[in-house]
Amino acid sequence: MAFRHSAKHSLAVGACARWRGVEHIPWLYDGLMSLADGLGFVRWRQALVWTARGRTLEVGCGTGRNLPLYPSRVSVIGLDPDPQSLARAQRRAPHIPLVAAQVEALPFRAGTFDTVVSSLVFCSVEDPAQGLREIRRVLRAEGRLLMLEHVRSSRPFWAKLQDRIQPLWTYVSGGCRPNRETETAVAAAGFRIDPSDREATDVLRRFGAHPISSEGTPRNEFGASVLQRP
Ligand SMILES: C[S@@+](CC[C@H](N)C(=O)[O-])C[C@H]1O[C@@H](n2cnc3c(N)ncnc32)[C@H](O)[C@@H]1O
Repeated sequence: MAFRHSAKHSLAVGACARWRGVEHIPWLYDGLMSLADGLGFVRWRQALVWTARGRTLEVGCGTGRNLPLYPSRVSVIGLDPDPQSLARAQRRAPHIPLVAAQVEALPFRAGTFDTVVSSLVFCSVEDPAQGLREIRRVLRAEGRLLMLEHVRSSRPFWAKLQDRIQPLWTYVSGGCRPNRETETAVAAAGFRIDPSDREATDVLRRFGAHPISSEGTPRNEFGASVLQRP
């Protein structure tokens, strides 16, 4: 296999390979996703990757459905703990380097990336707070986190339904929790969600976010703190 394996996390990766759910059956995941992408979800994917710039890490890249969509100016690395999904991603985008690891323990130095991308991943990450800490660490101060995630409904009936079906959903999908409050987690992890780069339906969110500096402000592309209007 051409992708790099982070030995430090081989135990977790091994456990993931034994546990099969839709997310970890690449042909089935791709079959279902082809349907969703064909019905319009691909437009969300395109909007997600379009503003990526510079050195870009896509965490939880899975079978690599976003990889061919990046603009050619971007230098991308894909990362996922599931070796079988990575093998498919490698076939889909042979020119893109791939790494087998978990977002909670990224095998990169601090400040390595201009952009980190995550699509439909933080519903499945075991420890989202640690994953977001790691993303903050590997992002440059003026870097951006781009996310496309499904989240807990803001409508009480649907939110309760998500809570009820969560155990079965998680089992069948292989790890996905439909009722995660991912935007809240991103803000709690020290990011500012950019309101001008946010698209939302009740359960689907696409947004860009900046790490907040120690002075409490996001940084612009030159690394300077950006003052916010009250
Ligand atoms: C629903 S799939 C999304 C795949 C791809 N991002 C997409 O948009 O089609 C979720 C992916 O997250 C990965 N994943 C689960 N836990 C993870 C973790 N702790 N760190 C990184 N990726 C993880 C899974 O292996 C799976 O490939």
